[in-house]
Amino acid sequence: MEKWRAADRLLKFSSRFASGTKLTCTIINYDHTHPLVSECCFFPIPFYCCKSKQGKYFYSVATTVHRNPLFSIISPDDISYFKTLLGERGVVQDALALDAANTDWMGKYRGSSKLLLQPKNTEEVSQILKYCNSRCLAVVPQGGNTGLVGGSVPVFDEVIINVGLMRNILSFDKVIVSGVLVCEAGCILENLISFLDDEGFIMPLDLGAKGSCQIGGNVSTNAGGLRLLRYGSLHGSVLGLEAVLANGTVLDMLGTLRKDNTGYDLKHLFIGSEGSLGIVTKVSILTPPKLSSVNIAFLACEDYTSCQKLLLEAKKKLGGILSAFEFLDSDAMSLVLKHLDGVRNPLPPSIHNFYILIETTGSNETFDKENLEAFLLHSVESGLVANGVLAQDINQASSFWHIREGLPEALMKAGAVYKYDLSLPLEKMYDLVEEMRVQIGPAAKVVAYGHLGDGNLHLNISAPAYDDNILAKIEPFVYEWTSKNRGSISAEHGLGLMKAAKIHYSKSPETVRLMIDFDYCVFELLPDTSCLDDNHSIICLCLSA
Ligand code: MLT
Ligand code: ZN
Repeated sequence: MEKWRAADRLLKFSSRFASGTKLTCTIINYDHTHPLVSECCFFPIPFYCCKSKQGKYFYSVATTVHRNPLFSIISPDDISYFKTLLGERGVVQDALALDAANTDWMGKYRGSSKLLLQPKNTEEVSQILKYCNSRCLAVVPQGGNTGLVGGSVPVFDEVIINVGLMRNILSFDKVIVSGVLVCEAGCILENLISFLDDEGFIMPLDLGAKGSCQIGGNVSTNAGGLRLLRYGSLHGSVLGLEAVLANGTVLDMLGTLRKDNTGYDLKHLFIGSEGSLGIVTKVSILTPPKLSSVNIAFLACEDYTSCQKLLLEAKKKLGGILSAFEFLDSDAMSLVLKHLDGVRNPLPPSIHNFYILIETTGSNETFDKENLEAFLLHSVESGLVANGVLAQDINQASSFWHIREGLPEALMKAGAVYKYDLSLPLEKMYDLVEEMRVQIGPAAKVVAYGHLGDGNLHLNISAPAYDDNILAKIEPFVYEWTSKNRGSISAEHGLGLMKAAKIHYSKSPETVRLMIDFDYCVFELLPDTSCLDDNHSIICLCLSA
């Protein structure tokens, strides 16, 4: 019998969505999302969702999500099998632990899984998947569960596979091939950062969720973060990886070479595929040496055009040492000041329209500092910058970063938040924010911040409570606007449950078709993988940050 054919997903999703038909599929996903998610549709908001005869209904939007009846229900025999495989400790059925694993970081997406599995190594992941495949049990891979698009938690009763116990650093080569780190997928990003710091290296990736997110999830979602401007995306830094396919096949692509043109470089398909092709279990990553001089400036600009010009100038004048260029608007600043304890605006009390955080990282302390100071002076004189301050010590530097990194938390504290993670042409980026304000009116606050240096806007609509009327003003407007301006509806967070059905706003039908065909290849070539039903199946294995 054909069991899971992961194919069909994307195109069917998007075409069904386009025609207004309800989506009915089942999933297997991971943290931070899965483009090929099946049953997806929309915001499962815990306190708004309930089960109807037809499926799970989310009050925040009129969409019903169905569980694919062809997926099996976990039986006592399954539990016994997993206990034999993983031991009692690896099989979690405790209500409290399950509740945490079923709920995403924002408390917005919630599943009802009755089983959380914690493998300790690749072989166990392989055995779990092989068994689930043979039993038609849907699974959702999970890492640090810090994703923002509903990819890390189940929608229904999928088995959660959390790789958090796979947290060994396997090797670090700082002598021969400088800076190659090989580690397991469950390593927490911050632990890797500390490990490397002791070795005189840094991770090429840094993000606000570093205390919880895991490298396997980072890779599976191609997490971007705060240093992408300098070190590029994980497609550049990840040298190799190991992944387990849905039928248990282990793919060893854990190379450590900078150059390897022997055939297709398949690892790239796993980076950012949100677990849809398999579970990433090991990663090898190129890490840059730690540089001694880091400088941070916090600046104010009065208009968006000045922010853009400042970026261009920074790229020209600071060039090689520029390591971050982040922005927030005045609504974002007000939100942080209101909701985060101990945060204060480092600039004199007047509120400016925009704030920019610039970081430089180099190796010549005197030169780098003078360079940044000269740049700032020139920017003030030319009128691009209205005000600014240079961090005098490490505490001040981290307080500047705290303003920017604390924004997601501040938004959570403010109430309900509709989050959009968009890539847009720089010159158009803030037009969307302004148009959204007109569109929404006084019912909600539009809060904008993001990685300006990468053309990545985080557009947030903050409201006292989730409300279909507000959502109707945001969507599809935000997606249509982005599509019309040739942007991406998912810059760095992935598609997840939230946006799986929206892929067509950013990818052409032909591209989506090719993704589907590729999925067919991956799953059909495997002897015992295939499909329940062309319309309903999907294997979405994503590991998350
Ligand atoms: C960030 O840049 O702060 C993260 O991507 C999270 C967010 O978008 O809120
Ligand atoms: Zn971001």
